[in-house]
Amino acid sequence: MKRIIFFTVIPFMFLLNSCYYDNMEELYPDNGNCDTTNVSFSNGVWPILESNCYGCHSGSAPAGNISVENYNDVVKLVENGKLMGTIRHEPGFSPMPKGGNKLSDCNIAKLEAWINAGYHEN
Ligand code: HEC
Repeated sequence: MKRIIFFTVIPFMFLLNSCYYDNMEELYPDNGNCDTTNVSFSNGVWPILESNCYGCHSGSAPAGNISVENYNDVVKLVENGKLMGTIRHEPGFSPMPKGGNKLSDCNIAKLEAWINAGYHEN
């Protein structure tokens, strides 16, 4: 009897736990403290791209021939829709960062806020 309880209750607890986590993500996508006001290129956008994309998309032979080395490179990806398409893992785009974890909701929201504000070189 003890064994039965063990093998039914434990997996159930894991199940509950994962449901709870999913709900939190949906209810509080920004974890409550994601600041997307006044996101600038240099302080908001660049650090995200530098730590998540630059390693593959820079240099003389950037991956997929896509470069994110400077503002002008990034603007091209904003205007052809590929920046948000790839990081949001939308259908029709190759999901980025390739082989890595999706960017956090907060980082995605920051990039989006910068784009919606006119993607200035600030
Ligand atoms: C581990 C290496 C690696 C990392 C990190 C990486 N990429 Fe890529 N990326 C690639 C490769 C390889 C390709 C070309 C093959 C493909 O499209 O899957 C590519 C293709 C792309 C494309 C063109 C895809 C399309 O659908 O046309 C874009 C845009 C892009 N990456 C943006 C990014 C952004 C933005 C980041 C950071 C959030 C990033 N990548 C991180 C390796 C990487």
